[in-house]
Amino acid sequence: MRISPFLLERHFAKYEFDIPFQLSCSDCEPLALAELLEMASTESIGLWQNLKLSYTESQGNTLLREEISQTYDGIKPEEIIVCAPEEGIFLVMNSLLSSGDHLIVISPAYQSLSEIALSIGCQVSHWKADLDGQYRVKSMESLITSKTRMVVINFPHNPTGALISRAEFIEITQLCTLNGILLFSDEMYRGLEQDISYQLPCAAALSPGNISLSGMSKSFALPGLRIGWLVCRNPGVREELIQMKDYTTICASAPSEILAIIALKNRDRILKRNLQIIKKNIIMVNEFIDRNTDCVYWNEPKAGSVALLNLLNGLSSEELCKDLLEKQKVLAIGSHLFRFHEPAIRLGLGRIGFEQALKKLEDYLFSVVKS
Ligand SMILES: Cc1ncc(COP(=O)(O)O)c(C=O)c1O
Repeated sequence: MRISPFLLERHFAKYEFDIPFQLSCSDCEPLALAELLEMASTESIGLWQNLKLSYTESQGNTLLREEISQTYDGIKPEEIIVCAPEEGIFLVMNSLLSSGDHLIVISPAYQSLSEIALSIGCQVSHWKADLDGQYRVKSMESLITSKTRMVVINFPHNPTGALISRAEFIEITQLCTLNGILLFSDEMYRGLEQDISYQLPCAAALSPGNISLSGMSKSFALPGLRIGWLVCRNPGVREELIQMKDYTTICASAPSEILAIIALKNRDRILKRNLQIIKKNIIMVNEFIDRNTDCVYWNEPKAGSVALLNLLNGLSSEELCKDLLEKQKVLAIGSHLFRFHEPAIRLGLGRIGFEQALKKLEDYLFSVVKS
């Protein structure tokens, strides 16, 4: 299998740990181990201290799957497969797609959502937003062909921060069911809605043919656990996914599973903390945009921890990111790393240090672009 390099991940790998100011991280401010353990009940501390570092259950720790199922309506623990989030995408695509299949993938997208399918020999059509930044179901529907095997969506969306309504989400589910298409819904940013009424249902809960992906990396501020999960209600498909996992990680990390249980037992507290950080950063971005309307604009996100800052005035995302890195020591992810041709940079709204990175961007705009 030949697969193209993952542009965004290669870029982070090169700079993330050396560059002091981060403008574009997609996760929320990571929790310290001590902070998480402080939230643990006596019972959970017992699980942590008495943990045997053996292999774990291939499908995922039973207690963890019970906790995960409680974050949904109508999902049973046995319908969940624990895996690293990125691994979940790999498992779904490699188990369920064949060369020649046609997919419709939201665009721009976290690269693996289309790249793995391309590496298998699939044809990919890109579901793009309209000029107002909204994703319309009609334009997705117009891409369906007789060969369409899978539709891949991601709401709240990385990188635009877009969200569709519950009615539109249900319409997509119905369209897929009607056409015998598998809906793969990446829900990594679920839980970060600024108003709970915006929260979309879990796609897998709406129809047994759908598969949902979620995890601890973004909404729960624990990317280092490498814990995520697939929700798959079809027993035959689930078995295929579990069998494929024997060739990736076999099972999850035992300590990470216990830490994920602790976090999920404290999910309201953790989500509240993360939303507070995001809301504060959104206010800051709006003020920043008001001062720089000649250079930038955005569609303020209703959910998730990322959004795009669109560039005006002939600014190129590639050049801006290069300059920010070299002159301001700011790591910014440009739309070019998503193979998206509108000039923009991704804003990572979940981090505490975002304020300083934004200030550095503004200093740059004043000293270089506007001078
Ligand atoms: C939409 C989306 N899906 C999946 C992933 C993969 O998550 P992880 O990096 O925790 O494996 C990411 C990470 O950025 C993402 O943004």
